[in-house]
Amino acid sequence: MSMELGVADSSWHRLDCDAVVLILYREEESGRLNRSADERMDGLLAELTASGEWTGANGDILVIHRPADVSARRLVLLGAGRRGDCDGARLRDRMVQVVRKFRGSDVVRIAVAGWEAADSALSIQACAEGLVIGSYGPDEYKTRDRSRTKIGQALFCSADPARATGLQDALNRGLVLGEATNLARSLVNQPGNRINPARLAEEARSIAEKSGLQIEILDEPAMEYEGMGALLAVARGSDEPARMIVLKHFGAEDDGAPPVVLIGKGVTFDSGGLSLKTSQGMEEMKADKAGACAVLAAMKAVSRLRLRRNVVGILPAVENMPSGRAQRPGDVVRSMSGKTIEVLNTDAEGRLILADAMHYARRLNPACMVDIATLTGACVIALGHVRAGLFSNDDRLAERFFEASERAGEKFWRLPLDDEYRSLLDSHIADIKNVGKRAAGAVTAAKFLQEFVGDTPWCHIDMAGVDMFQEGGANQGATGFGVRTMVELASLYPDP
Ligand code: BES
Ligand code: ZN
Ligand code: ZN
Repeated sequence: MSMELGVADSSWHRLDCDAVVLILYREEESGRLNRSADERMDGLLAELTASGEWTGANGDILVIHRPADVSARRLVLLGAGRRGDCDGARLRDRMVQVVRKFRGSDVVRIAVAGWEAADSALSIQACAEGLVIGSYGPDEYKTRDRSRTKIGQALFCSADPARATGLQDALNRGLVLGEATNLARSLVNQPGNRINPARLAEEARSIAEKSGLQIEILDEPAMEYEGMGALLAVARGSDEPARMIVLKHFGAEDDGAPPVVLIGKGVTFDSGGLSLKTSQGMEEMKADKAGACAVLAAMKAVSRLRLRRNVVGILPAVENMPSGRAQRPGDVVRSMSGKTIEVLNTDAEGRLILADAMHYARRLNPACMVDIATLTGACVIALGHVRAGLFSNDDRLAERFFEASERAGEKFWRLPLDDEYRSLLDSHIADIKNVGKRAAGAVTAAKFLQEFVGDTPWCHIDMAGVDMFQEGGANQGATGFGVRTMVELASLYPDP
């Protein structure tokens, strides 16, 4: 069930709820909210500040039960650091923290005050996203300890009733984007024995039917007919047949208007194929479908938000396995574009399936193309687990992309596509080989993909380092990375 989100025009201290959350800033003891909180509680906040127990540092949290002269049963002081440093990303994280804090407790209805920052629509949207995202936990397979109570309703205090409608719209947008992020997380968390290409296609069909997206699913004979030899070569080693899933949202006035095309790598399990991976960490390769899941979830959000654009999502889905039928290192395959590829390493499979998906996408006369993939370990070496790699052949699109990523609170770093890198993929037997040497592995992968985009404005996201939360943190499993940035980008581009 969806979380209920609303705007309240009464003062925070008069709202009857389980907990009222006050977002307070560092070095701002005399701020409006601080003063009113201090007054309500008979000087308690000043006392806590004087004793050093409360500073307002980012992430500080203090729960006061049965606060004097306040209707809520609990008052939650939530530090957001310096006001000037507090952006949407920080507010989102703070809301995740609040949901975590009260998971399993009897706190179901909350109110939030102090969230208003420079761009209040974006701030309240980010808060909504945080509350929804914080509510998800990968516990579908647990047979015990599952029914943990969660926050079900949040009211945001606003002093300005004239803006209530705009703020409610922003809350709804945050709800849709938060739920889409969770959908991607839940799909990525499904293990390889649960999700294979056919199952992913079924999931996509059920999502499409419920949300009014058009869907077309290509099976292996259909892909054979299209000449998708690169994708099919990867699929050969698996007993699970491949699928190409195509989702369409017609939001523009003209159904024929060039669409924004989103393409996601959907390797439901990447064993490496005959270039078999070592067993250490291989279990993580169930998440090699994270790009496809992000695109599927983004398409659902695009439809729920009724974006006035045409948007197409393409999910090439395969399982990469070794077997007697598997492709061999050294094989030469013919891609749908007609370009021949020497497959020197069967573990560089993502670029093979994307090559055919991208060529297929060119038929749709795209306004722009974005592909997202857990593509290279080299990108993890370059950027770690903080930022995804961004490659683009079009500066204007890249600029829009970074605007979108700011709104989404997802981090990227642009990496180069210089022509000099292309020669590392020269093959003496085919048009191109699928791997270079160790050097610049994320870049050569991107150069490989570039062969198949033509002059379509294009962005490639290498999300290999950011698909899963890292161990040790409070967050576990898949991140749902990329969903929100893609939806925000599709909202911004091309300029209306
Ligand atoms: N799915 C992997 C990339 C990956 C690695 C994702 C680590 C997440 C974490 C991809 O298919 C792969 O195996 N790439 C190879 C390419 C190499 C053979 C050129 C890699 O990065 O080692
Ligand atoms: Zn691989
Ligand atoms: Zn892979």
